[in-house]
Amino acid sequence: MPATSGATATVSELKVLFTRQQIAQRVAELGAQINRDFAGEQVVLIGVLKGAAIFLSDLSRALSVDATFDFISVSTYGNEKRSSGEVKLLKDVDQSMEGKNIILVEDILDTGLTLSYLTKVLAAHRPKSLRIAALLDKAARRVQPIKADYVGFEIPDEFVVGYGMDYAERYRNLPDICVVP
Ligand code: IMP
Ligand code: MG
Repeated sequence: MPATSGATATVSELKVLFTRQQIAQRVAELGAQINRDFAGEQVVLIGVLKGAAIFLSDLSRALSVDATFDFISVSTYGNEKRSSGEVKLLKDVDQSMEGKNIILVEDILDTGLTLSYLTKVLAAHRPKSLRIAALLDKAARRVQPIKADYVGFEIPDEFVVGYGMDYAERYRNLPDICVVP
């Protein structure tokens, strides 16, 4: 087997932080909250690639309101655990968001650099409303003063993987959310 660079932890070294059942329960609750907030309206879920893809697919299926998808892609971390602090837009949304109810769907709200940059990019579209759904919130790490409207779980300053989240592109497919030692 060729050696993998960067991510050296094996799956057996990972510690489960939230089980798939806990995640499913919380995502259902967030969906119910969005259904109440946007009753009778249409929403566009904008997923931040790639980490939010699994959260978006589960959250969207917890919605009874009329929902469409779009995806946006930025680079912040590269293959490192820590952000360089620089956010670059790799892929913009496909359609104009003017007059739409946007819900920006993100895996983790960490320093807030990514979401403060993306809210500026999307506010320029003049949406009807703009909200943030973040599965995880590392509030203690915040550099930019930004809050999510819908938060799955608050977590301490630990590096997590699974349920879409990676370490050097690995572990996104794990069904549970785990801490990397
Ligand atoms: P921010 O710009 O510092 O808020 O960074 C947010 C992005 O950093 C998230 O979208 C994740 O892609 C990545 N990130 C932050 N913490 C973690 C982590 O613990 N595991 C995996 N990715 C993380
Ligand atoms: Mg991300």
